[in-house]
Amino acid sequence: MVSNGRGRFIGANFVLLARQKQWANIVNLDKLTYAGNLATLRSLAGDRGHHFIQGDIGNRELVRYILDRFSVSKIINFAAESHVDRSIVAPDSFIQTNIVGTFHLLEVAKNYWQHLSEPENFRFLHISTDEVYGTLGFSDPAFTEETAYAPNSPYSASKAAADHLVRSFHHTYNLPTLTTNCSNNYGPYQFPEKLIPLTILNAYEYKPIPVYGKGENVRDWLYVADHCQAIYQVLTKGIPGETYNIGGESEKQNLEVVETICTILDEIAPQKTDRKSLITFVKDRPGHDLRYAINCEKIKQHLGWQPQENFSSGIRKTIEWYLHNPDWIESVRSGAYRQWISQNYDKR
Ligand code: NAD
Ligand code: DAU
Repeated sequence: MVSNGRGRFIGANFVLLARQKQWANIVNLDKLTYAGNLATLRSLAGDRGHHFIQGDIGNRELVRYILDRFSVSKIINFAAESHVDRSIVAPDSFIQTNIVGTFHLLEVAKNYWQHLSEPENFRFLHISTDEVYGTLGFSDPAFTEETAYAPNSPYSASKAAADHLVRSFHHTYNLPTLTTNCSNNYGPYQFPEKLIPLTILNAYEYKPIPVYGKGENVRDWLYVADHCQAIYQVLTKGIPGETYNIGGESEKQNLEVVETICTILDEIAPQKTDRKSLITFVKDRPGHDLRYAINCEKIKQHLGWQPQENFSSGIRKTIEWYLHNPDWIESVRSGAYRQWISQNYDKR
């Protein structure tokens, strides 16, 4: 069972992978928040192995019903408010979903698991982020699973709190939990509020490309299909109680990311002036973490995972996906998303 996600980015990509691997009986619980997008569900219409249910992970009655009705043996918690800028402007929903929602999900899962006839097959996999570790200087060693938590934004603080709850449910009740802490993802179906899809669309449409501060911040980019494959390995081979870092071993400064996208688009769809001229340096994000970097030796050594895509191949695939899916882009841009942007974005 997948606790949420076909409506959005990583969960959507994971469900596609799981169906390719012939997993049956996937239940997809998603609240379909501000940009929740049923267009992402289209390719699974009529697929009897996938059940979509609109709802909140914090709704205990609903989650209890789903676990019983579908005899769920695995929960993957993708559900979250995930955008750092939104957490700075309006943190409430981050606390509600990421902390309180995860707590409710854990409580229901624990009670369900305690009454299973084969409890040893049950898993609760919690999808988290490298942002819980805080920020690095340019020459610091990368985050390992032993790095102390030091979250800096309301988003990362809410994810850190959830990670601690998950840890405590394993330690106290022996619930078979697993946690993954992953670096920045990019690829198909990512909502165009995050750096890469926003840049692709603005650059393609010849609009200004906002770069925070000097564009020197570093992120470790991972193609989403590689993240999903890592989640699959952790779910099927990971040891309960363990946490696994996942990263792309592909650190880039934001300016380099943006310039690369401009160069590729100039090649594919040339304009009179180079797209780099669209880059606009804007006010920095408050509390902006300078650098994230992931040491993913543990998952590589213990579970045999390895990213398949490097940044130059992954970014090309991603750009091509956005250029070939104008209907999906139109559907996420309409309605609630536009309204939220106009009400909140300029207050950042
Ligand atoms: P996303 O914002 O694209 O999707 C989140 C999904 O959760 C949406 O479908 C939304 O409708 C759903 N949701 C929100 N609140 C809910 C609730 N209360 N109940 C049920 N569903 C709810 O996020 P994403 O980028 O796909 O991230 C998925 C997970 O991976 C998150 O936990 C995030 O913290 C983590 N993560 C993301 C990245 C990244 O770069 N995107 C990297 C590392 C970890
Ligand atoms: O590290 C994993 C995290 O990566 C996930 O946990 C989060 O859910 C995900 O949103 C992402 O967080 P970031 O804040 O790193 O991603 P974002 O795409 O918002 O920003 C990436 C970098 O680009 C960051 O340094 C801020 C900068 N940026 C972002 C936007 C949206 C810009 O310079 N301009 C922009 O318009």
